[in-house]
Amino acid sequence: MEITVFGTGYVGLVTGVCFAEIGHNVTCFDIDENKINTLSKGKCPIYEPGLEEMLKRNLSEGRLNFTSESKKACHKADYIFVAVGTPENEDGSANLEYLEAAIAEIGMNLIRDAIIVIKSTVPVGTNERILKLLNETIESELRVKVISNPEFLREGSGILDTFHADRVVIGTDDPDAGSAVAKLYKPFGRPILQTDVRSAELIKYASNAFLATKISFINEVANLCEHTGANIEDVAKGMGMDERIGRQFLKAGIGYGGSCFPKDTKALEKLTEYYDYDFKILRSVIEVNSRQKQQLFYKAKEMFGSFQGKRVAVLGLAFKPHTDDIREAPAIELIARLLEEHADISVYDPAASGNVENLFGSLLYYADQVDTAIKGADAVFILTEWPQIMQYDLERFPLLMRQPIVFDGRNCYDLKHAEAAGLTYISVGRNAVNVHASLKGLKY
Ligand code: UDX
Repeated sequence: MEITVFGTGYVGLVTGVCFAEIGHNVTCFDIDENKINTLSKGKCPIYEPGLEEMLKRNLSEGRLNFTSESKKACHKADYIFVAVGTPENEDGSANLEYLEAAIAEIGMNLIRDAIIVIKSTVPVGTNERILKLLNETIESELRVKVISNPEFLREGSGILDTFHADRVVIGTDDPDAGSAVAKLYKPFGRPILQTDVRSAELIKYASNAFLATKISFINEVANLCEHTGANIEDVAKGMGMDERIGRQFLKAGIGYGGSCFPKDTKALEKLTEYYDYDFKILRSVIEVNSRQKQQLFYKAKEMFGSFQGKRVAVLGLAFKPHTDDIREAPAIELIARLLEEHADISVYDPAASGNVENLFGSLLYYADQVDTAIKGADAVFILTEWPQIMQYDLERFPLLMRQPIVFDGRNCYDLKHAEAAGLTYISVGRNAVNVHASLKGLKY
């Protein structure tokens, strides 16, 4: 069986490489020729643990190839997976222009019957529209089927999530086409759920919205902990021990970011507006997250009053560890606020500094280690729980900083250790440590 994957972003590339790994012949297509050249040389343009080795192996064993010619990509394909981005429009709805362009290319270049599998996250009803579009463009003797197959992999653990997926969702009203796609996934040995098309489309949005809800909920509880003197780590642990609640996605912090939760919650909200349904919880989840992203800044502002002439270090720029992705990362918003306040900012991230430099250029100082980032700083902000930051020797903060004040948006350190190291340490949902009355304007 010949598989083609349209789009070589996180989802498309991981899908293509993993399908090759289990023995399928895979062609990955992208309109970006530079990217295709890089990939053809066995180089991975994104930071995804284990991906480059797997990519190289499958290239050299001849099961994987890359092309930017849509004709080549479509001619041999029995299955075409579409995994192009559906970014956010200005009004929050899903932008389907890349998807529609991909479908137009497929329609023009298809010369044999094929099953088109939509992995891109799309609003309910889109797959039906795609089938209609394709039937309007393909040669009349051809038969295509369109299947919804949403993707649930996380950035930074894409390969692991593919090989250990909790479920593979296949949405179609055509049982034969559904079974054919299920067969492709069989070597992974993961549970398969077949549904109708609309349900599959909604499973994706509902899953992301539910996970985002867990995060916003625990962040609200964390804020309540700060008012009541409870400790969010203990509260979350106690809640998570109830199997009905579950331990995962109860880590309080500076809010969710990335390419999925922010855009998918907003796109779902738009969908509810379209159907004139008031999804109250969803609206609150979005609102709570946007407030949470600003929490650390306001805590620091309360303490410092002004940042004019202050040296601050931002540790962790990616929206989460083990990725270089800074889309909707809380660090970006914080840096923008600190720049408005005329702070002197140094930043550190093991993978994402280059992407931040593309945004802020010479406005920031880019350190290649924690030591250099925090040297002489009046305050440190922690925004991503990278191991390099979590395992940093706390004794070095007072040694290197002008004053050891640390605002931690990811609860990286044990309160007792922070106290013993002499840090003024303000985290999320836990008591502030070593906050002396002399610290200006302080209300902790
Ligand atoms: C997410 C979904 O997990 C995945 O199923 C979907 O396919 C794409 O969106 P991803 O965005 O890669 O994946 O990252 P994830 O690990 O889910 O984290 C998303 C954000 O939530 C990060 O900013 C992370 O820091 C935050 N988060 C996660 C929390 O703040 N607390 C938690 O307990 C978990």
